[in-house]
Amino acid sequence: MLMISAAMIMHGRSADNDRKMDRFIDGLMEKMSVEEKIGQLNLPTAPSDIITGPARESDIAGLISKGQIGGLFNISNAAKAREIQELAVNSGHGIPLLFGLDVIHGQKTVFPIPLGLSATWDPDAIERMARISAIEASAMGINWTYSPMVDISHDARWGRVAEGSGEDPYLGSRIAEAYIRGYQGDLTDDDEILACVKHYALYGAADAGRDYTASDMSRYRMFNWYMEPYKAAVDAGAASVMSAFQQVEGVPCALNRFLLTDVLREKWGFDGFVVADYNAVGEAVNHGMGSLEEVSARALKAGLDMDMVTGGYVGTLGKALKDGLIREEDIDKACRRILEAKYRLGLFDDPYRFCDTENPEDKIFTPEHRAEARKIAAESFVLLKNDGILPLDRKARIAVVGLLADDKANMLGCWTVGADKDSPVTVLEGIRSAVADPSAVSYSRGSNLFYDPDMDRVSRNQGKDVDRDPRDAGEMVAEAVEAAKQADVVVAVLGEAAEMSGESASRVDLTIPDAQRDLLKELAKTGKPVVLVLCTGRPLVLDWESENVDAILNIWFPGTEAGLAVADVLFGDVNPSGRLTMSFPRHSGVMPFYYNEVPNGRPTDGRWVKYASCYMDTDWTALYPFGYGLSYTSFAYSEPVVEKAAYSLICEDGKYGLDSPVRVSVTITNTGKRAGTETVQLYVRDMAGSVGRPLRELKGFEKVALRPGESRTVEFTLTADDLSFYTQSLDRIVEPGEFSVMTGGSSSDVKTAGFIIK
Ligand code: BGC
Repeated sequence: MLMISAAMIMHGRSADNDRKMDRFIDGLMEKMSVEEKIGQLNLPTAPSDIITGPARESDIAGLISKGQIGGLFNISNAAKAREIQELAVNSGHGIPLLFGLDVIHGQKTVFPIPLGLSATWDPDAIERMARISAIEASAMGINWTYSPMVDISHDARWGRVAEGSGEDPYLGSRIAEAYIRGYQGDLTDDDEILACVKHYALYGAADAGRDYTASDMSRYRMFNWYMEPYKAAVDAGAASVMSAFQQVEGVPCALNRFLLTDVLREKWGFDGFVVADYNAVGEAVNHGMGSLEEVSARALKAGLDMDMVTGGYVGTLGKALKDGLIREEDIDKACRRILEAKYRLGLFDDPYRFCDTENPEDKIFTPEHRAEARKIAAESFVLLKNDGILPLDRKARIAVVGLLADDKANMLGCWTVGADKDSPVTVLEGIRSAVADPSAVSYSRGSNLFYDPDMDRVSRNQGKDVDRDPRDAGEMVAEAVEAAKQADVVVAVLGEAAEMSGESASRVDLTIPDAQRDLLKELAKTGKPVVLVLCTGRPLVLDWESENVDAILNIWFPGTEAGLAVADVLFGDVNPSGRLTMSFPRHSGVMPFYYNEVPNGRPTDGRWVKYASCYMDTDWTALYPFGYGLSYTSFAYSEPVVEKAAYSLICEDGKYGLDSPVRVSVTITNTGKRAGTETVQLYVRDMAGSVGRPLRELKGFEKVALRPGESRTVEFTLTADDLSFYTQSLDRIVEPGEFSVMTGGSSSDVKTAGFIIK
């Protein structure tokens, strides 16, 4: 056994450290056999016997001692991680393991689902959430999170929109950078962990919104609408990238050389490692790409470094080498990248740096973390409608209705593998804790999730069951209606259950589940004011609700502090400021649906006109557009002012610049009676290009807090980069001509000015 003697290796990024790292890894790899190098490329999931029993007695221990594992997936316990790390360090070349887990929107302290986080339009808040996630995860032995997911999606049928940051590449990029900063910092502290950008690429464009189906599109669309957030995360220093499941241009992403090498490494200069999504290498056999040996060899040659779960690499690459399908250099390249990640993480310096078993409670689910989660949750809520009933009077008699009002686990949302299911504060608890007299708050369940028990069944996962009430549906509704009649106001907490979004949770009907929607109709008939508190992991169709209830507060899935944050907003301690990052349609059939579309030759205002671009049976415009969200106060915008009427374009060596940046200013005034925060948005349109340019594209935003009557002038700066786009040959260019610039409080409520690029 050869022990690593790499004490006091400096692992921060610098040319000097990189040279030291290269020397160290050269020396290590010289001693490694081909089998051991292939072992570094293997990421199995930890079996339950290793999680519950002594690690040294498991099969995994045998594989570790033979150097056949590079990382382990599913350990979330510092003592267990230490025990397994000891096995690795004391066998073979003593190479420490990576411990990866899906820490997606918090570990023990759970924050809103990522789509909700994006609705804060607050990258700093998202960075703080990622920082807290890294602190809690690293205190539990995890040194690598499979986050952030930065897939742009235009299709609310796809359940995984819950895990992303919405439909806009500019906002998605700013948020992607924030996640990376929060998780990784500079990877020098013991609570900074590796991030993994996923799912590269275009996973959010799955055909018909059905999970895992192919996504195919022109390269023009690919690069201008979908690729920017992956690139932004790579530019921000993401240590790893996860390839997606589905085919792009006919090739599964794990085997896709264009994506993994031509773009990721050669065009973007990514120097971390690429891991396959769960079993994706093996699934390439189902894609019809050949045998496990052939697909594994092809994946390695395409640029995929680590095989998650399949065992295809560890099981077949040795043979593929003998069969001449791959060369040893291909294995070396991938092995080196994984060793580099371990080195940069400081594992060769101290393999136990993420296995500190002292006082983990000082770092996990602390009052400070929970306070931050409460604040960010309240910031993520989007007030979609308010006829004036909100904020509520604390002395009102309130009828709280709906099975989601009294549910803990479902407040967590999808992907919370590390969280305790009973840790969240329910909405009912939150409301009762905030009112003058808790006995004036009644609760009735009102309905099951769906009428069909099978739909309830498929909506369960990860312990987030919504138990069925065996009572007759009519009886449950009658009880809720009676409670409503006794109250001054109804707060109906309805919508999707947590596992109706996330992975493998595609839906074609984007309405509130039937039993709950019918309940809401009966509540509205009482004539009492109804506040719909909406739980959802995706844009829903709220056509009836928008007409018939008095207020709609969209809370997504808020996390562990759910009820407290909901009460903060319902009673006006926090003025809502969230803004949508995906357009809410009027009909499920309009998918895919997004605000930044290109013009067509036959535009309409949404209504049907023969021979124009529209539908016979629905208005196609958004019911609630991208960027939309109300406040308890109101804001007025001045016309935007562009500093100069014309700018000169400079192009040197294929790089574009302007003679001076385009400065756009706009003044916002709080015209209401409460302090509030407005998200000022800036959109651009390239009025005429050699290719169709979007009708509007977000290019700037700023949140401004204003007291009643207060005004603030916000100045945005546009550079040549902001005005550029990718051509089909993937050059990034700026074309001279006329540009419109729009400022306002949502993508469809803007004032316009213009300038010329000469
Ligand atoms: C998901 C990934 C996740 C991985 C590991 C896959 O099914 O697509 O997002 O990181 O599993 O849990």
